[in-house]
Amino acid sequence: MATAAQIRLSAENVKPKIGSRILNTKEELLSGELAAELRDLLEQRGVLVFPTINFTDEEHVAFTKTLGTFAPEMTDKDKDEHVVHAITLDEKVNPGSAIYLKGSLFWHIDGTMNDLPIRASLLACKVPSPKGTGNTGFSNTYAAYDALTEEQKAEFDQYKVRHGAWATLMYWSPEPDQTLLERMQAIGDVEIPLVWNHESGRKSLVIGNTAHTISGKNHFDSTRILNWLRTHATKEEFTFSHEWTVGDLVIWDNTGTMHRAEAYDPACGRMMVRTKLEGEEPIQ
Ligand code: OGA
Ligand code: MN
Repeated sequence: MATAAQIRLSAENVKPKIGSRILNTKEELLSGELAAELRDLLEQRGVLVFPTINFTDEEHVAFTKTLGTFAPEMTDKDKDEHVVHAITLDEKVNPGSAIYLKGSLFWHIDGTMNDLPIRASLLACKVPSPKGTGNTGFSNTYAAYDALTEEQKAEFDQYKVRHGAWATLMYWSPEPDQTLLERMQAIGDVEIPLVWNHESGRKSLVIGNTAHTISGKNHFDSTRILNWLRTHATKEEFTFSHEWTVGDLVIWDNTGTMHRAEAYDPACGRMMVRTKLEGEEPIQ
């Protein structure tokens, strides 16, 4: 009896150390048959780009579910259906939540403060910002760790770092409103290892704008070391910047990459939608 032809993954590298472009059709992706291979590739390459795949919101959610456990956004938890979440700095469109996105203009990992940081985010472009603005940058923090010297690895392997959402506020509002600061601080502040020892045996750096203090070090030394690490991890060889076209979908492995939105005018109409995959592994 004839068996159905197997769907083959069609992928090409964006850059040697980060990013793959996936060239399969929407139907092939939605079949779920490539899910295991896509998950492996995501872990190896950090970021998967699906150029002009043009998923509807329903397809975006369905595709997310082929890859893992759908993670509802905090603000959507009371909705009983799984939906895409709007990502825009425009206060008029995203009242109350745009403010939390201002920190996304600086290098970060989503939800480092959570017990199980989300596994991956899937971001799609509905309306791009004008060319030259609003790209999303990605950095491979596995590759950045691997490139350290043995001495640096031995030292950094020992470090624990404090992270909090409030620290991201200081990047865009260095003299913040006290009420807002206290609201952000109430979200919490945690101590986690600088180097994530993954169950796979690989290691990645846990840095970005939520990281503020290395345990046992003063502000002066903490800031210098964390800034050195960010500079190192965002070198050209570990990063790429995705210029959005309507209908693009990009997935990042939130456990082995950092990302940031590049500056854009909040009123320009840039509109993205996002889903997330539930975390699978604590930072340890
Ligand atoms: C995010 C994020 C960046 C962007 O959705 O978590 O950081 O370019 N987005 O909008
Ligand atoms: Mn983010």
